[in-house]
Amino acid sequence: MTTNGTMAPEEGTLLWARPDGATGPGSVEPLRVAVREFKLAVHACTYGELPELVRVRRCELVGIELGEDAEAGVALIKRLHERLPALNIFAVSDDPSVSLLRTLLEAGASDVLSLPLSSQELHKALIKFSQVRSKTGPANAPGTVLTVYGVRGGLGATTLAVNLAARLHATLEVETALVDLDLQRGDVAAFLNLTPVNSLAALANATGTVDEIFLAGTLTRHPSGLFLLPAPSEIEEADAIGHNEVEVALRLLRSQFRYAVVDTGRTISGPALAAFEQSDRLLMLTDLSVPGVRAARRIVELLDRLSIPRERVDLIVTQAIPGPVSLQDAARAIGKEVFQVLPRDEQAASGAMNAGAPIAAGREGGLGTAIAELADKVAGRGGAPKAKRGHLLQRIFTRETRP
Ligand SMILES: Nc1ncnc2c1ncn2[C@@H]1O[C@H](COP(=O)(O)OP(=O)(O)OP(=O)(O)O)[C@@H](O)[C@H]1O
Ligand SMILES: [Mg+2]
Repeated sequence: MTTNGTMAPEEGTLLWARPDGATGPGSVEPLRVAVREFKLAVHACTYGELPELVRVRRCELVGIELGEDAEAGVALIKRLHERLPALNIFAVSDDPSVSLLRTLLEAGASDVLSLPLSSQELHKALIKFSQVRSKTGPANAPGTVLTVYGVRGGLGATTLAVNLAARLHATLEVETALVDLDLQRGDVAAFLNLTPVNSLAALANATGTVDEIFLAGTLTRHPSGLFLLPAPSEIEEADAIGHNEVEVALRLLRSQFRYAVVDTGRTISGPALAAFEQSDRLLMLTDLSVPGVRAARRIVELLDRLSIPRERVDLIVTQAIPGPVSLQDAARAIGKEVFQVLPRDEQAASGAMNAGAPIAAGREGGLGTAIAELADKVAGRGGAPKAKRGHLLQRIFTRETRP
C-alpha cells in the first residue's frame, strides 16, 4: 500500500509456468494474493509458452511448477538459464528429495519451493529476490567498459589493462572480462599464461547469429575466473576484425560482465575507435616525455573531433620512462587533470609479465598498489557493486583453462 492508502501499481510480472496439459487448481490463485505486497502481477502459462513470454515481457522472475515428469521441468529450467543467465527461476515441486533439489539448483534454479505452496516460504524467497535486485539494480543493468590506450608504444598499457582487470575481479568479486584489441601483436594471453583456442577472429568468421552463447565460445577462462577475449593467434586474421565486430563484442560483453577492460594497440583504426566509442571510461596512458605529452594532446583533440566527451577520459601518467615535464604542465598541456600516477616498478611489472601472472599484492609505493588505488577509484565511481552475471559463462567453463 502506498501512503495515500491505494494499492501501489504493479512493477513487474511473475510468470508462473505449469506443465503443458496440467489439470487441477494449481497454485496460481493463492500466489496472486501472496505476491501482492511485492508489487508483482502473476501471469500463468504453460511450459511451452514460457520462453517466448519471458522474452516479450522482459521479466526477471519466473516460477516453474514441476509435474509428474520432473525431467521436462528440469530441461526447461536448464534451457532458460542458459539463454538468460540473469533470470531468477523458482522451481516448485512436491518432491522434497535432496537429489531433486540438487538437480534443480544445478540446472539453474535460484530457489526451490515446495508444493503445496506456503505463503511464508514464498515470501522468504521473494524477499531474497528483491534484496538481491535492490543491491544489484535490474538484472540486465549494463556493465562498464574501460579501455586502456597508451599514447606511445611500450608505456605499460597492457600491464595496466591486465592488472586493472585482475584487481577489479579479485577485490570486487564481480564478473570481469579482458579484451585484447592489440590485434596484430596481442600479448594479453601471454601476460596471463593462457593458450586460447578461439579469439575475436571467430566473430569475423561467424555465419549465424552472434549472441551471448556464441560469445561464450570465444572466451578463455583464467584459473582466477577472469575471462579473456583474445586477439587472433594468426597475425593475418587481424585484418578481418573491424569496427563492427568490436562493437558487437563489447555490447555482448557489457550485458554479461560487470567490467570489460580493453587493451589496445598503437594504431587507431576501426577496432580501437569502436572501443573508444563504446567505453564508459578511456584510460589514456602517457609518460612525462615531450613526445608523450604531445601525443596525449593529439589524442584528446581527436576524441573531441569524434564527439567523445572529455569527461570520459582519465589521464594516467606512468613514470616507467623518465621525462622532464612536470605533472602540472602535463595536465595543462593535455587539458585533463592527472587521475592516477603509476610509479616505475620494473620488478613488479616485468616479474609478473614473465611469470604470466597478475602483479602480486602491492608493495607500498609500488605499481601493484597504484593499480589497486586506480581500481578502487574506478569502482567507487558508481554502478552496481556486486551484480552477479555471467552464470552462463561460469557454467560453460566448468574446467579451468590450463596453458
Ligand atoms: N610501471 C612500470 N615500471 C617499469 N616497467 C614497466 C612498468 N609498466 C610496464 N613496464 C614494462 O614495460 C614494458 C612494456 O610494457 P607493456 O607491454 O605493458 O606496454 P605496452 O604499452 O602494452 O606496450 P606495446 O605498445 O608494445 O603494446 C614491459 O617490459 C613491462 O614490464
Ligand atoms: Mg601492449
